[in-house]
Amino acid sequence: MQLPNPIAWTSAGQIRLLDQTLLPSEERYLVLDSVESVAEAIKTLRVRGAPLIGIAAAMGVALAAEGGPEQVRAAAAMLGATRPTAVNLHWALRRMERRADRAAMVGEALAPALRAEAQAIWDEDREMCERIGALGAPLIPHGATVGTICNAGALATGGIGTALAPIYHHQRLGRGLHVVVPETRPLLQGSRLTAWELTRAGVECTLIADGMIASRLRLGDVACVLVGADRIAANGDVANKIGTYGLALAAKVHKVPFYVLAPTSTIDPSVPDGAAIPIELRAAEEVSEWQGVRAAAQGVSVWNPAFDVTPAELVTAIVTDRGVVPPGQISRLMD
Ligand code: MRU
Repeated sequence: MQLPNPIAWTSAGQIRLLDQTLLPSEERYLVLDSVESVAEAIKTLRVRGAPLIGIAAAMGVALAAEGGPEQVRAAAAMLGATRPTAVNLHWALRRMERRADRAAMVGEALAPALRAEAQAIWDEDREMCERIGALGAPLIPHGATVGTICNAGALATGGIGTALAPIYHHQRLGRGLHVVVPETRPLLQGSRLTAWELTRAGVECTLIADGMIASRLRLGDVACVLVGADRIAANGDVANKIGTYGLALAAKVHKVPFYVLAPTSTIDPSVPDGAAIPIELRAAEEVSEWQGVRAAAQGVSVWNPAFDVTPAELVTAIVTDRGVVPPGQISRLMD
C-alpha cells in the first residue's frame, strides 16, 4: 500500500514539505528553512490537516531554536497565529514552549532538545493513527461502502490518517472497502487529495459533488460515515471541515452511523461546547474564484467559514487512540 509522506526532515535539518495546493496535478516538494516559510505554508494550506499542522509547527519551532529562547517564543507566536480552529496546532506549540523552558532550566542545549520534541510529537501521532485504525476497523463491515469528507488521511497526519485509518487497516489485511468521497468545496480536499491518496493506495472510491451527499445516503448503500476533527469540545461537539454538519444531518435522517475519528491531541477540554470553538473565516476568493479565475458574479458578497460544528447528538461515537466512546463521554478520556 503506497501512502504519501507529506513531511520530512532534510539531511541538513530543514523541512521537506509536499505542497498540497498543487495536488493532484503536480507532486512538488518544498524545502523550508525559516519559521516564516512554515507559517506561510500553514496559512496557504500547502500543509494542512489538524495533526499535520501541529507537527509542521513543532518542526518550525525547532528551526528557530538556534536563535535561543526569545526566537523560540516569537516562532511559537507567529505559527500560532496562522490558523485558529485546529487545536493540535496550539497543543503542539505549547508543548514545544514547555520543552524549551525545561531545557533552559537545566541548562540543556536547546536545538537538539526541540528537534527531539518535534520528532516525538510526530512519532506519537503516527502511533495514534495506527491505534485509531485498529479501534475503528471493527466498526466497518467487510467490503462495505463508507462515506467521508475532506481529507483526514496520510496527507493530514504523521501516519495513516484518522478517518481513513480504519480503511487502510482493512486494506492492509486484503479486505477492500469502497469510499464515497465528496469533493469538499471550496478548496477540494476531497477530490484533489482524498481521491488521489485513496487511488494511489489501491482503495476503490467514487467522487461526488457536495450537493449529492444526501441523495447518495438515501440510496442506502453507505454503511457508515467516517470523518476527522479539528477540535472536539468537552461536551463532544465536533469542529471539522465545512460541510461535515450537513453530512451528519443527512446521516442522521438516513440512519447511517456517523463516526468521528481523532487523536486525543484534538480534544480540547477547556472548551465547554462547540459554540466556543473559534471558526476560521477565509478569503472570499476561495469561493468566488477557481485558480485565479473569477467564477462568481461580480460584486456578490461571500461567507467562507473553513469549518463547521457538528453537535454531539449527531455523532454516533468518537474513535480515539484511547478508545471508542459516545461523544458525551469524551472528557473521560482526558483524565
Ligand atoms: O482546512 P484543512 O484542509 O486543514 O481541514 C482539514 C480537516 O477539516 C480535517 O478533516 C481535519 O483537520 C482532520 S485531519 C486528520
